[in-house]
Amino acid sequence: MNPVEIPPPPRLEARHISKIYGIAAQRALQLLRSGADKATVQAETGCQVGLHDVSLAIAAGHTHVIMGLSGSGKSTLVRHFNRLIDPSDGDILLDGQNILSLDAAGLRDLRRRRISMVFQGFGLLPHETVQGNVAYGLLTRGEKKATVLDKARRWIDRVGLTGYHDRHPHELSGGMRQRVGLARALAMETDILLMDEPFSALDPLTRRDMQQLLIDLQAELQKTIVFITHDLAEAFRLGQRIAMLRDGQLVQDAPPEEIRHAPADDYVARFVATLG
Ligand SMILES: Nc1ncnc2c1ncn2[C@@H]1O[C@H](COP(=O)(O)OP(=O)(O)O)[C@@H](O)[C@H]1O
Ligand SMILES: [Mg+2]
Repeated sequence: MNPVEIPPPPRLEARHISKIYGIAAQRALQLLRSGADKATVQAETGCQVGLHDVSLAIAAGHTHVIMGLSGSGKSTLVRHFNRLIDPSDGDILLDGQNILSLDAAGLRDLRRRRISMVFQGFGLLPHETVQGNVAYGLLTRGEKKATVLDKARRWIDRVGLTGYHDRHPHELSGGMRQRVGLARALAMETDILLMDEPFSALDPLTRRDMQQLLIDLQAELQKTIVFITHDLAEAFRLGQRIAMLRDGQLVQDAPPEEIRHAPADDYVARFVATLG
């Protein structure tokens, strides 16, 4: 008899998430449930549909890529996982626990110890040095200065910025700034990393270097990563799974090869065609 393989439970899970931006959110939800599309909801309620009934499970130790055109809801989805955004409907689970019921202390703990984030625009503190930027989150969560500086230096080295710890962001190239962004997130030693188009602002060669750095780090660290991009080649290089969003809805969630060989619809097929 073959043993039945039971997959491990997901680290992160979105269950039937909808997010409406605007005052008439309840009316907009009703319209969506009765089958109205995003444009109709906007015309009738003035609300923007960020997401509509999205369910997605993120496996431990995987890089799960979220793809879609601009405005398809990628940032909206990922920001639910650390509750920068609360849903209009649905639940968000972390290790099976509904994070929507966290109190203020629980939420602080979530953002300081369980999940860190890397942004497209880097989001560095301009008046802090590289070291100051990497150390900042560790200091605010109460770690001792001596160990923080040590830790910061180690991650600065690990992302390839040895010798730059005293520089300020404006003295660095875009690629170097995002290395700081990555070091800052890694220094928090959370095992979940949210990355919202972290490499989209970089030139193609720098972008490739950063992808390789992430691949190397991931081989070593095996974090649970939610990685957003609108570039399918990047998604294929980095992801074990790719979730495709269109107009706030999930149209496919599958391993890269399945996306390539069995695109769910024309929208996904058009992304696949960009691979050449
Ligand atoms: N703060 C906001 N207020 C109103 N509408 C928003 C807001 N943020 C996002 N949206 C709308 O929600 C939809 C999804 O946006 P977003 O999640 O930013 O998409 P993406 O990251 O894929 O570009 C878009 O139609 C966008 O205009
Ligand atoms: Mg976005």
